[in-house]
This record gives sequence, C-alpha cells and structure tokens, in this order.
Amino acid sequence: MAILIDGKKTSQDIKNEIAARVAEIKTEGGKIPHLAAILVGSDGASQTYVGAKVKACHEIGFESTLVRLDETISEEELLAKVEDINANPDIDGLIVQLPLPKHISVEKVTDKIKPDKDVDGFTPSNVGRMALNWPAYVAATPYGIVELLKRYNIETSGKHCVVIGRSHIVGSPMSILMARNGYPGNATVTLTHSRTQNLKEIAQTADILIVALGKPEFVTADMVKPGAVVIDVGIHRVEDASKKSGFRLIGDVKFDEVAEKASAITPVPGGVGPMTIASLLYNTLLAAEKKVY
Ligand code: GUN
Repeated sequence: MAILIDGKKTSQDIKNEIAARVAEIKTEGGKIPHLAAILVGSDGASQTYVGAKVKACHEIGFESTLVRLDETISEEELLAKVEDINANPDIDGLIVQLPLPKHISVEKVTDKIKPDKDVDGFTPSNVGRMALNWPAYVAATPYGIVELLKRYNIETSGKHCVVIGRSHIVGSPMSILMARNGYPGNATVTLTHSRTQNLKEIAQTADILIVALGKPEFVTADMVKPGAVVIDVGIHRVEDASKKSGFRLIGDVKFDEVAEKASAITPVPGGVGPMTIASLLYNTLLAAEKKVY
C-alpha cells in the first residue's frame, strides 16, 4: 500500500510557518502582507474559492481586501480597477478570480496585473521567469505539487516524470518545473495530452505520474508502474446517496486500485487541493517581503 501524501496536513504546516513569519514581521514593525482579490459575478464555485482565500488570510494574520464586482461590469471598468490596485502601495498581491464573464478578455485582464503583484503567477512575466528558472511567482497548483514532492523527500533527479494534461495553469508549468535544473527537477519529462498516442504505455514507464486532465478516474492500476509516485490534480463531484451531502469527491485517478500499486499517492480530497491556498499565501508573503522582484 502506498504512502499517503497528505496535502491537508502539509498545507496546515505551511500556513503555520507563514503565520509565524507574520508574527515576526509584526514585532519588527514591518509591512503586514496584504492580498486583494477581485471577484466578478456570482459564480458559486468562485465565491467559495475566494471566500476560502480571504478566510485563510485572516487565519494567518494577513490583511485582505475583497473587491466584488457585478457580472455586467465592462472590460474597461475592470481594467481600471486592476490599475487602481496596481497603484495602491498598501496592497502586495492581487488575484482576479477566474473564470470571467464572456465579454471580458482574460488575456487583457491578466496582462494588466503588475507582475510584482501577480501572486497567482499567471502573467507572461511570471510564466517566463519560472521557465527561465529565475525568481518568480509560480502558480498555486504547480507550486503546491513542488512543495509536496519536497516535503515528502521524493527523489526526482533522473526519474521519468509523465505529466498528463497540458493546461496553462497545471500541466504545462509542471512539465517545465520537473525538467529544470534543481530540486525538485532534473527529471526526464514527457508531457502528454489529448492527442498523445499510446498514452497507457507511456504512463506505465513513469516513475512520477502527474495527472491533470480533468477526467474522473481516468488513470487505472494497469496504467501505473509498480512503485510509482502518483499525483492526482483532478477533482470531481459525483452523486453518492450514502453521503449526507449527497455527493463525494473523486480525482483523475482510480484511487483504491492505484494506491495498491504506487509507492506514494495524493488522495482526493486532501491532496493537491489544500496546497493551492498555501501556495497563494506563500507568494503573497514573498511579495510583501519583495523577495521576487
Ligand atoms: N480559478 C480557478 N483556479 C484559480 C486560481 O488559482 N486563481 C484564480 N485567480 N482563479 C482561479
């Protein structure tokens, strides 16, 4: 049976470390980290995510500002709001929760965020810096995975890492981070996606398998090499009448059977998911302490 890579505990450890640093900053009379979040419209999932981010700020002693804007706001008005926050010296980090309404260009809004406040790591500047192995804000999910690999001392040098999924926010940056010079890194990386041929055979050769394609229980035991480390980024709700809530959460990996074969695995929930907020908080601390730019 695989070792369980516990994202819930690890994210709490990171939050405690950040809270300890905030306490030090307070005694030193330094700048308390301040995160601003812009939420456009009333999408239920987005409200939950932003609410969790604001709550986490409060828990660890950060300041936070939530800017709620109506669904009907124009692109111009939203860009002006981003400019306001860019120019506000009290705010260290800014995130614009995605998705945005269809009439607003995500590219234009992302590109408007000042790179030194882009704690989501979504701007071309931060993606480029990350790829160059320069100091950068790394996006929350890939950064969370990097921290899990580190804190569980998972060897990556010379290993074959197979990433399934090439999204801008997970698969693509993850492939760069695993291949770059350093730890975790120095892996031989194969980035696979919907057009990949012989995916099963490729997955079977992975020492580290990172699954981020967004298909429930896509990876089954026959796709996994015995002893592989399996990181599951997927999260899906499925109906389950036996639960009080009426649903349960599953990942992109068929957990029970893969856990029998892997050497270590992240569960869903409680694996990669909880790490994303810890990463955002960490980036905001870096921003307040001017450690990246
Ligand atoms: N929507 C889903 N994930 C994210 C994220 O990490 N950041 C932002 N801004 N929006 C999201």
